[in-house]
Amino acid sequence: MVPEPPISGPPSSEPPPPENPIHRFSELPTECDSLTLIAAPEDRPGADFADDVRAGLSACPKRLPCLYFYDERGSRLFERICELPEYYLTRAERSILEAHADELAALLAGPVDLVDLGSGNSGKTRLVIEALLRCQGRLRFIPVDISSSMLRESSLALVETYAGLEVLAVAGEYQAGLDYLDAEGGPPRLVLWLGSNVGNFTPPEAVGFLRRLGGAMRPGDALLIGIDLRKEPAVLVAAYDDAAGVTAQFNLNLLARINRELGGGFDLDAFAHEARWNDAEGRMEMHLRSLRGQSVEIADIGLRVSFAEGETIHTESSCKYSLEGIQELAAASGFAISRQWLDGGSRFSLSLMARGGASG
Ligand code: AVJ
Repeated sequence: MVPEPPISGPPSSEPPPPENPIHRFSELPTECDSLTLIAAPEDRPGADFADDVRAGLSACPKRLPCLYFYDERGSRLFERICELPEYYLTRAERSILEAHADELAALLAGPVDLVDLGSGNSGKTRLVIEALLRCQGRLRFIPVDISSSMLRESSLALVETYAGLEVLAVAGEYQAGLDYLDAEGGPPRLVLWLGSNVGNFTPPEAVGFLRRLGGAMRPGDALLIGIDLRKEPAVLVAAYDDAAGVTAQFNLNLLARINRELGGGFDLDAFAHEARWNDAEGRMEMHLRSLRGQSVEIADIGLRVSFAEGETIHTESSCKYSLEGIQELAAASGFAISRQWLDGGSRFSLSLMARGGASG
């Protein structure tokens, strides 16, 4: 579906009629009736990565946005991270869902559509899908993910596994998911935002995003958010610097991606993965440290970047919250926590939230 070119007419001061954002999404072919795959509009395909790399590597200190970790290779590496003995987050969250998914489904007022922001391979989400199917028989599942290959693969696997499941998969960033939620009607929704993905935002950014998410939710919709809790820094550092070096590969894949997609000349052996606990900010950080003074050319964007020996690129922040911090986050975002569950080791939290907190 290519949008019609605008018809040129006499200049007018009338604002154009508001465009339904759904019409800017394009449907991709699938071989399966119960799966619809749609892609968010890319106004300038590929340009965002080039612009963000240019801006981030020209900044001081240097940085790269963590969303670019998740190309095909990065998404695979992240799946491996989730299985690492040190990376407790996924297992802890899964154990909460195993214990409480049916209770969660019973807390909802009636049948829902299930939305999953940053669904990845949908592994943990299956527990919620199964509980909702037990409760309501049929389910429409709307996963949103930036990795369209992962999204297609996991969506196909889901419709093959579950009769009564219809999947509407949205390939795009979170904002695309919000636009879609805003524009689409249908029954109330349960929105999942699992995996402590919220941690990639600073707390003020998280409030901004949650407010926008709340704005796209209707009364009666619910949000289930998974948030990693503050703990012993040594446990956190190990989770982001595993012995097998998978997280190091994940981090270095950003440079490999620049080499692949932008004609970069990074020597991956000349950079080292680093994970640090930033106590003042309450977050884990990942950096890439230049092991020598060097200058790297990124041919396709005409950029040459110099690194001093020991200079770092900040590639990710993962904020960790206390229970009070989660309370504050919810209140500042206009949400009220209706139910909260922790895993057996109190390492990770799941909070069920509804719109209408104090400042909502
Ligand atoms: C998917 C963003 C939640 O911050 O823990 C895993 C990504 N980075 N290991 C996290 C990640 C390093 C992960 N999130």
